[in-house]
Parts: sequence; C-alpha cells; structure tokens
Amino acid sequence: MTGNQNIGWAEVLPGHIPGVQVLDRLLAKGWPGPDGAGRFLISDPNADPGLMAEAALFLPHLTGADAGAAAGRAFLAAEMAADADGVTARLAFLRSAIRDVALYGDLILSDPEAFMERAETFTLFDYSQARDTSAAAVAATKPWVDYVSTLTRAEAPALVPLIDIPTESLVLEPGGNSGAFARALIPVIRPLLHVVFDLPAVCALGEQRGAVPGLTFAPGDMRRDDWRGVAGGAPDVVLFKSVLHDWPLDDAADILARARAALAPGGRIIIAERGRFAGMTSGTAMDYANLVFAPFYRDPQTYIDMLAGMGLSITVTETHIDCGWFVLTARAA
Ligand SMILES: C[S@@+](CC[C@H](N)C(=O)[O-])C[C@H]1O[C@@H](n2cnc3c(N)ncnc32)[C@H](O)[C@@H]1O
Repeated sequence: MTGNQNIGWAEVLPGHIPGVQVLDRLLAKGWPGPDGAGRFLISDPNADPGLMAEAALFLPHLTGADAGAAAGRAFLAAEMAADADGVTARLAFLRSAIRDVALYGDLILSDPEAFMERAETFTLFDYSQARDTSAAAVAATKPWVDYVSTLTRAEAPALVPLIDIPTESLVLEPGGNSGAFARALIPVIRPLLHVVFDLPAVCALGEQRGAVPGLTFAPGDMRRDDWRGVAGGAPDVVLFKSVLHDWPLDDAADILARARAALAPGGRIIIAERGRFAGMTSGTAMDYANLVFAPFYRDPQTYIDMLAGMGLSITVTETHIDCGWFVLTARAA
C-alpha cells in the first residue's frame, strides 16, 4: 500500500465489470493525474467528458467529492507514480480473468484442465518463454512479472511481519521473481544475503529494477540445479512466496524435499500462500483474479503432510489480504 495507510486496492478496486473497464481506461488516459485531483483540465488533450460521465456512473467511490473518494484518487496517483507498468498489468489481468470466467467459468472447478486450455489468463504465464535472456524472451516475460510484482508489493505489508528470519541469514528464495518480496523483507530482516533463484528472463527483469545491498539474482531451474551451489552455501532459510501452488502435488513435494536437503543445520523452510479458495469473498474484482487460480490454492495441511518425516517443527499463521493467506514456518531442530 502507498499513500493513505487506510486505503489500498481493496478499497479502490470495483467489484463489477464496467467498473474495471472504466478504471482501466481512466488510468490509461492519465487519470487521476499526479496530484490525484481526479479531473481532466479543460486544456488537457486527454479531457474526455464522456469517459468522466461513465466514471461518475460506475466508480462513484472514486469520483465523488467526499474525503473517501479523494483518498482513493490519491492512492491511485501514488500507485501510478510508483509502478505504472504494474498497475496497467493488474488491470489487464483483471480484464482477462473476468473474460475467462464469463466464457468458461463453469469449468474452473469441475474441469480445471479444460479451463486452462481455453483461458486467456494462462497464456500470459508461459514460463517456457523465460528460459533465456534474449530481448524476445524478456519482452514476453515482462507483463506477468509486472503483474505478480505489483501484487507482491501490495501483499508485503501484511506478510513481512509474519516472516520469522534471524538477522544475518543466508536466504534462498526459489521463484522469487523480480525480487519484489525480497526488497520488502531485506530492510526488516537484514540478511547476510538474499538470493532470488528464478528463470533467466525473470532474473534479468529483476536486475533491471535496480540493485539493493544484500539482494542477488541466480538464474536457473529449481527442478534441476544444485540449490546449495545456487545459494553459495547451505541456506539458513528457503522461502517460497506464492510459488508452490504452481506445481502439481508430486512436484511440490519434490521441491520441498530439495529445500530440506539444501537447508543448513537449524535452518527453516517458510511458505507463504493464499489458502484454499473460499468464494467471492473480497467484494472486489480481485475475486476474479483469484477464481481463475482457485483449483491450485491449498490448505496448509497439504504442505504439512509433504513436510512430515523431515524432522521439522511446524507453525502456521493465518492472515487476510485479498483473501485468506497463511505463512507456514518449518524449523529444523
Ligand atoms: C506464481 S509466480 C510467484 C512469483 C513471486 N514469488 C510472487 O509471489 O509473486 C512463480 C515463480 O516461479 C518461477 N519459476 C517457475 N518455474 C521455475 C523453475 N523451474 N525454476 C525457478 N523458478 C521458476 C516463475 O518464474 C515465477 O517467478
């Protein structure tokens, strides 16, 4: 969250389709402006009275004269200033998710594979395009990296306080993407080193976002590479944020076994994930973004079962962001 601490995406995002469409068009035209004033100046070449009339109709919580609407506009202005590509990617993803739910939503829970074959949203997340750092691979990877990075930036304030990592730890973060979560964690936990271990084009995009002391990127493949070699030693912490739901059960169990084998004595595995899908609970369009991934979100018990017999003592903390989340910490004796 940026700007007014009481306002975030949950307060700003509409829950219905016309609201998402109008918000996307408004932001693309530069609304609400750098000062969040929320109106186009008469001299502004972007002035569009028709669009503003639609906005008044579909987004009254953002266009009104009240303090809540002003705070919502200020939040959007700050988000656009900080991360315009991410905000654009968020709205584009919501449009795709809403479209997929409208066209094929009957299949999401009854036949997830058939849904995935048809859905536009899954064409975005094509990890195979991230295997090298050619200009084409980086360009194909950027939209979804922008999307998940902007989500992580919004999720981090709720999750970081739940991540228990001793200072001076060697942290390995498989699937750490652009380093968005690492950038929020590093000032708080002050690690020895935080190694983001992700696919080559993803790491290249992460590096483009700028250097941070203590953060490094290790391009590779978590299914194959030697994790201790990647981390430069046995990691004290292996951190998975929104990663394991990507993988079928057998693969997720194999990844956790690799994490356990790599861990330093007394180390810990930390898993932060959305919990099992519980319905359209947020009342915002974020519910559609979560619904398209609904079959993949699991209860913490699934991961507790995978970690059983590995000599780890496990605690789980739950929280609520756009939906229910959990942070599971599995500590070696
Ligand atoms: C769902 S995204 C989550 C990203 C980030 N942790 C977040 O919370 O937004 C999964 C991440 O795993 C990475 N990934 C997928 N397959 C991988 C592999 N074989 N080796 C390393 N990273 C991989 C993707 O590039 C992506 O960054």
